[in-house]
Amino acid sequence: MTESDFIVVANRLPIDLERLPDGSSRWKRSPGGLVTALEPVLRESRSSAWIGWPGVPDADVEPLIEDDIAMQPVPLSGQEVTDYYEGFSNATLWPLYHDVIVAPEYHRRWWAAYVTVNRRFADVTAKAAAPGATVWVQDYQLQLVPKMLRMLRPDLTIGFFLHIPFPPVELFLQLPWRTEIVEGLLGADLIGFQLPGGAQNFLYLARRLAGHQTSRGSVGLRSRLGEVQVGFRKVRVGAFPISIESSRIDEISKRREVREQARELRTELGNPRTILLGVDRLDYTKGIDVRLAAIEELLADGDLDPGEIVLVQLATPSRERVDSYVRMRASIESRVGRINGEYGRVGRPVVHYHHRPVARNELIAFFVAADVMLVTPLRDGMNLVAKEYVACQGDRGGRLVLSEFTGAAHELRQAYLCNPYDLDGVKHAILSALTDSPEDARRRMRAMRRQVLSFDVSRWAASFLRALTVGPEAGHTLVRDPEPMLGEPAAELTSGS
Ligand code: ADP
Ligand code: G6P
Repeated sequence: MTESDFIVVANRLPIDLERLPDGSSRWKRSPGGLVTALEPVLRESRSSAWIGWPGVPDADVEPLIEDDIAMQPVPLSGQEVTDYYEGFSNATLWPLYHDVIVAPEYHRRWWAAYVTVNRRFADVTAKAAAPGATVWVQDYQLQLVPKMLRMLRPDLTIGFFLHIPFPPVELFLQLPWRTEIVEGLLGADLIGFQLPGGAQNFLYLARRLAGHQTSRGSVGLRSRLGEVQVGFRKVRVGAFPISIESSRIDEISKRREVREQARELRTELGNPRTILLGVDRLDYTKGIDVRLAAIEELLADGDLDPGEIVLVQLATPSRERVDSYVRMRASIESRVGRINGEYGRVGRPVVHYHHRPVARNELIAFFVAADVMLVTPLRDGMNLVAKEYVACQGDRGGRLVLSEFTGAAHELRQAYLCNPYDLDGVKHAILSALTDSPEDARRRMRAMRRQVLSFDVSRWAASFLRALTVGPEAGHTLVRDPEPMLGEPAAELTSGS
């Protein structure tokens, strides 16, 4: 592979190798919001490359070009998939960074694999980067790469973006390898978070755990970056809420064939008065159980008529060998069965549950068809599904029920907001969405569309990369805590999401 001037490094490539029963294999789109957001960014930049794992163990894959993106696969062994990916990334860091919704597990063997795999990503990147290149490292699976890469290639400009929430300090301090993670990230020139709270939590830890001087002022959105003095280097820390390819999705949602498909979907669903929709990776952070519980109670209370509504839940399979995911899937599927058993009729289930990814344009047809979108995560760094729904609404007044604990809720203030831990509050938000007047619903949606269409993913990438490649802001006062005291609550502690 030729050397590249701009490199994205992420745990996954945007395409996944799928092994078929006959022994052959094919590529399919990788799941998740990271790929949704970054794929259009890389498609448009020249001399760029994407470094990542091809999604199956022990795959010996040559570099390839797909959809104008040059890809450099990084192999993982079966044991590394177990220990680094399913273990440390998704059974330690993922639950720890999402408010310990399930208990994180701490195993030294998993940590050792995390270090080994991060080093491999750093080595591959060091070889692929042209002199003076810009490297953008992504997400929680690769938090050690910035420091490892800087030691190998001090000539590079290194950015890091965390797609998931950065946790409250008290939770982060549980991590036995907390200092290594903070120092790993500080190898970057710019560290980006979804929200200012995450950036501020990180600044606090850079002072308290790593003993560096940091700025104290509050971090703004895409502005007022914080600073950490690491030896002679200044590392900047900021908040850059991620987004979607809004105008492309808007355009696709207006195509005749997509509208036609949306009408067909409604017919196939039995022409219900109201279609409610959920679209998620099957993950315990998404609160799929919360919305099912709310719908079940609303049906039991007689507030919803099972002859008039359907709920479509599209759930992409995810991390299927991790215990907490296996348990969650069983409990969601049993609840779907219970609701349909209680309230469905022959050939007319109330909940249509599909455990598979849906093609992009078909998904957009679902967004167009849905009268009410249910986005109820217990914690989510951003939640691009909420923005995708808004982008698909044209002049329709689709109604978005949105958890306060998503990054998206900080921008989509006109949604029907709810606290997913408060079941009565969720039921109330769903009923308000269902009963609000069409004029009110359209007014809310217009405001949210202005937000989503103006702050799209290219603006997100441009604001991060501009901040990465210009020099440090002047005028910050750096301070060092006299005596780091771990566990002492900081005045400015806020949730990172
Ligand atoms: P996460 O990154 O945690 O999965 P996001 O909501 O930020 O959550 O991003 C999810 C992305 O995956 C969105 O682009 C969404 O459209 C897509 N997606 C989610 N569920 C499905 C599905 N069942 N079929 C196809 N795409 C899906
Ligand atoms: C979220 C994470 C991504 C991850 C994606 C899919 O979006 O932030 O880093 O790639 O989920 O999860 P998976 O484990 O399948 O890569």
